Amino acid sequence: MLIFVLQQAQNIYGYLPEVVLLRISEALDVSRAKIYGVVTFYAQFQLKPRGRNIIRACQGTACHVRGVSRIVGKLKEELGVNVGETTKDLRFTFESVACIGACGLAPVIMINSDTHGRLTADKVPLI
Ligand code: FES
Repeated sequence: MLIFVLQQAQNIYGYLPEVVLLRISEALDVSRAKIYGVVTFYAQFQLKPRGRNIIRACQGTACHVRGVSRIVGKLKEELGVNVGETTKDLRFTFESVACIGACGLAPVIMINSDTHGRLTADKVPLI
């Protein structure tokens, strides 16, 4: 029940604000410690606001060998945030992932559900 309620709350707010977690704790009579234990265990739950667009840079071996670090550097420069951060205007959240599953296209990033492969740093501003 707790996970379902947390998922529904996150669907509504886009993340799990402190006040919402407190309200869930009271409504379900579950300790805040237990709720935080669940929220921090599962990667699906977010405690900070996320951007409307999620950019994921692959950090897998194939992408590493093919220079994803230059792509990541260009994304940091363009967005003005580091990996794991969200732009102040909430347009973009920049994350890294272990492997997107498109190693043949390395280096690869995803913007929402779109995959962009065989990238070079100079293509980053265009996409
Ligand atoms: S290593 Fe990057 S897609 Fe697999």
